[in-house]
Amino acid sequence: MNYTKAEHAIWQRLYERMLPRWKSGATPVFLDGLAALNLEPGRAPSLSDINQRLAPLTGFQAIAVDGYMPAVDFFAHLRRRQFPTVTKVRREDQMDYLPEPDLFHDVAGHVPMHTNRVFADTLASFGALAEQMHDDERVSGALARFFWYTIEFGLMDCGGTLKAYGSGVMSSLGELDHALHSSAVERRPFDLKEVIATPFEIDRYQNRLYVVDSFEQLYDAVKQLRSSVMAQLPEFTGS
Ligand SMILES: [Fe+2]
Repeated sequence: MNYTKAEHAIWQRLYERMLPRWKSGATPVFLDGLAALNLEPGRAPSLSDINQRLAPLTGFQAIAVDGYMPAVDFFAHLRRRQFPTVTKVRREDQMDYLPEPDLFHDVAGHVPMHTNRVFADTLASFGALAEQMHDDERVSGALARFFWYTIEFGLMDCGGTLKAYGSGVMSSLGELDHALHSSAVERRPFDLKEVIATPFEIDRYQNRLYVVDSFEQLYDAVKQLRSSVMAQLPEFTGS
C-alpha cells in the first residue's frame, strides 16, 4: 500500500495524540504489543512489515481488506488467525470520529493485542464458534455483544488500576478518556451471561463497559460460550 504524504501526516497526528493516553491508560499487553510491532509514529505502516513481527509471536496476520466483508467470512479469517484490516486512512475531517474501521482503528487499535498468545487464542476460538453459528440469529446476536464488550470496548482491572484494551477505546481519543474517566460510565465486572444479553449502541460513547481481570478470563468465557451454545442453554434458545 502506497500512502500519500497527507495520509502519512494523518496517521502521525492520530498516533502522536494517542501515545501519551496509551501510556497512561492501556493495559501492559497493549503497550508490549505496540513495542513488539515497532510501529513508526511518523509513517502509516505496511501490513507486510507488521506481519513479519506479528506472525512469529502468535501466528496472527493482518490481511488487507477494502471495508465491508460478510460476517461469516470475517469470522473464518479470525479462525485462521487472519485479521481483516482496513488499509484506508481516514480523512482529515474524521480525526475525532468515524463510524467504520480505518487503518488507525484496525492497526493501532486491534493489532497490538494480537501479539499476545492468550488474546490471540481467544480471538481465533471466538472466530471458529462465530463462523460455525453465523446463521443462528440468536447465537450470533449474543456473540456480537460479546465481541463488542470485549474485543472492541473491553476494560481490565490491572492490580487495582483501570486500564483499557478494546480497539474502539484504544483508537479514539474521546472514547478512551470517556471510558476510563467519565462519571457517566457504569463499569461492571465482566459477567458472561450479562454481557451477551446487553444491547449496545454503535454511534455514541459507551456508557456501560465491562471489566475483566485477565485475558485468561476471556479465553475461558469463549470456551463457556461454546459449551452453552452446544448445550442450547436458555440464554441462547430464549426459553
Ligand atoms: Fe474494531
